[in-house]
Amino acid sequence: MVGSETRYQAFLDALGKDHLRRELSVVEARDARTLLAGGRTYVNLASNDYLALRFHEALIARAAEWAGHYGTGSGASRLVTGNLDLFEGIEAKVAALKQKPAALLMASGFQANASVLQALFDKGVLGAEPLVFADRLNHASMHFGCKAADVHQIRYRHGDAAHLAELMTQYQGDSRPKFILTESVFSMDGDIAPLGEIAALARAHDATLIVDDAHATGILGEGGRGLSDGADIVIGTFSKAFGSFGAYVACAPTVRDYLVNRCSGFIYSTALPPPVLGAIDTALDLVPAMDEARAHVASMATRFRARAHDIDFDTGASATQIVPLIVGPADAALGLSAKLREAGFWATAIRPPTVPQGTARVRLAFTAAHHDADIDRLLEALSECAPSEAAKAVSS
Ligand SMILES: Cc1ncc(COP(=O)(O)O)c(C=O)c1O
Repeated sequence: MVGSETRYQAFLDALGKDHLRRELSVVEARDARTLLAGGRTYVNLASNDYLALRFHEALIARAAEWAGHYGTGSGASRLVTGNLDLFEGIEAKVAALKQKPAALLMASGFQANASVLQALFDKGVLGAEPLVFADRLNHASMHFGCKAADVHQIRYRHGDAAHLAELMTQYQGDSRPKFILTESVFSMDGDIAPLGEIAALARAHDATLIVDDAHATGILGEGGRGLSDGADIVIGTFSKAFGSFGAYVACAPTVRDYLVNRCSGFIYSTALPPPVLGAIDTALDLVPAMDEARAHVASMATRFRARAHDIDFDTGASATQIVPLIVGPADAALGLSAKLREAGFWATAIRPPTVPQGTARVRLAFTAAHHDADIDRLLEALSECAPSEAAKAVSS
């Protein structure tokens, strides 16, 4: 082992001791509701395919058709020869869905946050280091974008508009450009940011509001348009409710042009491939009319939360299709995930640093593919490992 590898190994060993080491599990997926692993079928409660679109025949058909017509790759970045005629139609559909004048497709949600934020917060262009007010629990990719731009984040307590107001007031006389950065639905908590209050603060302090709408677009809001109405710039992904891959920025035309000229993730990366564009395009056609699927998911999550509380599980402030079972220590989350697996459910333990210390959890995500009977069976399984029982099982 060379010197660096010894260090990496020591790091991994330390993670293992703290129950924080991550492992890849091999799974097979043949439909949106279940997955196969080690010869057993599980109900998949760990997928963000909220509308169960990734196995939808129309998406698969257009993906195959576009691969046949336009090839499997786009061949170059959009600024070279990858700007296939397909992009503009899709961007118009995204702009319409998000009710913004323009949209730009990006390679992935992570890449969008990492490189779009870097470009938007460019000190050279803005003339000063911007004041970036950010929710403490924002996704890792947003932190990455802030780091890449080398800006200090002024972090407010999670979902706390009063704290944000307090911090913004402290900088009231400061003429540096101001931004507020938040998710609409938080990926690990399933709670919703107080976006009305945050948008009002943005207006009052002449700040640009940037919302990551990854977990709301498609599944929440009127016609699945998400929860980003008051935002100036919206970033979202097609990898979740849209059942595919890729991401978007919805914004003013000037911001779009600026990103085309300044955003490294856009300029230096190959354009999305035609089959993926075909799936996105079809999902954009289908999503507005999927109210029934959205209502089904919401009703399962609401019913689940109520009954989970009855058996003393802590679901935090979840109000969406994402429902965490917060148990605290990392080993307790691993123990609960293992119990659920024994009962035929695939639900992943989420541990620090993805969530704050002491708040490890099993994250459940309900999708349109789940049946009411799945929820009943899940609750039955959980009642056998209610918090006190789970803690006993882990410590014995
Ligand atoms: C809030 C949020 N933003 C961005 C991403 C990244 O999106 P993608 O999976 O398309 O890279 C995720 C997904 O993990 C997310 O939860």
